[in-house]
This record gives sequence, C-alpha cells and structure tokens, in this order.
Amino acid sequence: MAARSFKQELVGVFGQPVAENPTQVMIEAAFRQMGLDWRYLTLEVAPKDLPAAIAGMRAMGFRGINCTIPHKVAVVSLLDELTPAARAIGAVNCVARQGDKLLGENTDGKGFLQSVQAQGSVKGKSAVILGAGGAARAIGVELLRAGAGSLTVVNRSEARGQELLQVLEAVAPGRSTFTRWVGDYVVPEGTDLVIQATSIGLYPDIEARVPLDIDSLRPNMIVCDVIPNPPRTRLVREAEAAGCVVLDGLGMLVNQGVIGIQLWTGRDPDPTVMRQALLDVFE
Ligand SMILES: NC(=O)c1ccc[n+]([C@@H]2O[C@H](COP(=O)([O-])OP(=O)(O)OC[C@H]3O[C@@H](n4cnc5c(N)ncnc54)[C@H](OP(=O)(O)O)[C@@H]3O)[C@@H](O)[C@H]2O)c1
Repeated sequence: MAARSFKQELVGVFGQPVAENPTQVMIEAAFRQMGLDWRYLTLEVAPKDLPAAIAGMRAMGFRGINCTIPHKVAVVSLLDELTPAARAIGAVNCVARQGDKLLGENTDGKGFLQSVQAQGSVKGKSAVILGAGGAARAIGVELLRAGAGSLTVVNRSEARGQELLQVLEAVAPGRSTFTRWVGDYVVPEGTDLVIQATSIGLYPDIEARVPLDIDSLRPNMIVCDVIPNPPRTRLVREAEAAGCVVLDGLGMLVNQGVIGIQLWTGRDPDPTVMRQALLDVFE
C-alpha cells in the first residue's frame, strides 16, 4: 500500500464577527478542484486574543490566514515582513507563511484591480471612489500604483476622507483630491471609473440606496460595487440600466481569494469554480 498522509494543511480566516463570512466556501471548492487535501477554517478571534491566535497559527504550522474585521490593521505589528502594497495601505488581509516567517499582503486592492483590468488598463484613467474605509484605502493605493491619472475620494466623514488622502499622497503626490459627501453625489463628466466602496447595500440592508445622482452616470463609465452579498446590488442594477459597464463585488472577492491561494500553495486555482461556489450559497 502506498504511504499516505492523514495530516491536512491548514489555512483560514480570523475575524469577529466571522460566522457570515463565506470565504471558506470558495477556497475549499478550489482546493477540491485542485486535488489538495487542505482545510480553510472560519475562526472567531476577539481583538484581545489576536496575538495568541497568530502565535497559535505559527505553532500549529498554518500555511496562512486571512484577516478580516477588526484585525486588518492590528495584525501588522505581529508579522515578520510586509509587501510594499501592504505597507502603503497600512493593513493586511492575507498572511502567508514563508519558511518560519509570516509575510503580510493586502489582496483587496489587487483583487479589485484584476476585475477592472479585465476591461482594460487603468493607466491615465480618472476614478471616483465613494468611501474612505479599509476597502477604499486598498483600492485607491492599487489604482495609483497601477498608474491611474486622477482619483477623487468622496466620503461622508471629513476626518476619514482626509486620512485616506494623506495615504494616497504618499503613494503618488498630486493625483488625488477629497470631496465631502453631501446629498446625492454628481459624478463629474469625463470620469472613467466609479467605485462604490462603502458598506451601503450589504446584506441584510439590501435595498439601502447609495446617495448618487444616477442621471450623472454615462454609458462609457465603468461602475464597480465592492458589495459581494448580494452581488446584484441596487446600484449594480441601476448602473446597468444607465448603460454602464458594471463590475460586482463577487469578482473582487474571488480575485483576492485566487491571490491568497497562489501565495499559500504556489498554484493557480480556477476562479470560475470559486465564483460558482459563492453563487450557490448566495441563492
Ligand atoms: N468584494 C470584496 O472582496 C470586498 C473586500 C473588502 C471589503 N468589501 C466590502 O467593502 C465594504 C466596506 O468595507 P470596509 O472594510 O472599507 O469598511 P469600513 O472600513 O468600516 O468603511 C466603511 C465606509 O463606508 C462609509 N459608509 C458606511 N455607511 C455609509 C452611509 N450610510 N453613507 C455614506 N457612507 C457610508 C463610511 O463612511 P464614514 O467614514 O463617513 O463612516 C466608510 O467610508 C464592506 O461592505 C465589505 O463587505 C468587499
């Protein structure tokens, strides 16, 4: 009888709350399709326990971990190395073990960028980002790193918007501006990309309306929504009706999962299997 191992390789996600996080479904679907006997564990970790959880994953030989709310910033000081993007963003959502070292990467913005670049290069393009939280920060940094020409951050709270502007100025001076979000935002003529990066529309508040003047959308604009659940948000439906090219939040979620699997396993998973696994649970 051929020798076989009964020990699975482990990865997973630390978050709180974490029970509604569907990442396990798409990652384990990819592992099955790749013939890998790996497990992706969904683990509830309180903020005070994060240092012990990271020490635990080192001790148990986890191959990597995703970090979600509220750990993306706190985890930075517990790691050995950061990629340039994670350092610029100031947050980590994906940790990979490399030898006995833990490397922190931020795959949110990269996952987003891959979705957009499937439509064409962002070089020289002008973008509007609605929101200034963690998702907006990762997207803004990666857009500038990829050569976006101008970026307008639109946010309700001035303090958070200005904070993001400082991060973006450090990446590419003079290409970003901040606009305080008051009433329905009118998208300026000539905008190429409109990115909805707030939490408006996330399940269960699915009919919540993004304060945006839909009449200011033009058919040559690409409209992106980061909300993965439901994928067909109210904004996605309205932007489609306005004739725009529309990218939903599932693309970003799947793409950042693909990058995580590549970092952990060194192999390429099949994104269509991952997207289908998520669609199956969201139905
Ligand atoms: N598809 C993916 O792969 C992916 C990856 C990461 C995140 N996400 C999604 O991205 C969303 C944002 O996550 P995050 O980590 O950036 O959250 P966050 O750091 O808490 O930031 C939330 C942002 O939304 C804004 N906001 C919330 N409610 C608003 C309202 N009613 N009107 C105007 N602005 C509002 C906040 O504005 P203020 O500053 O004014 O409060 C802030 O800019 C989440 O829903 C998450 O599911 C998706």
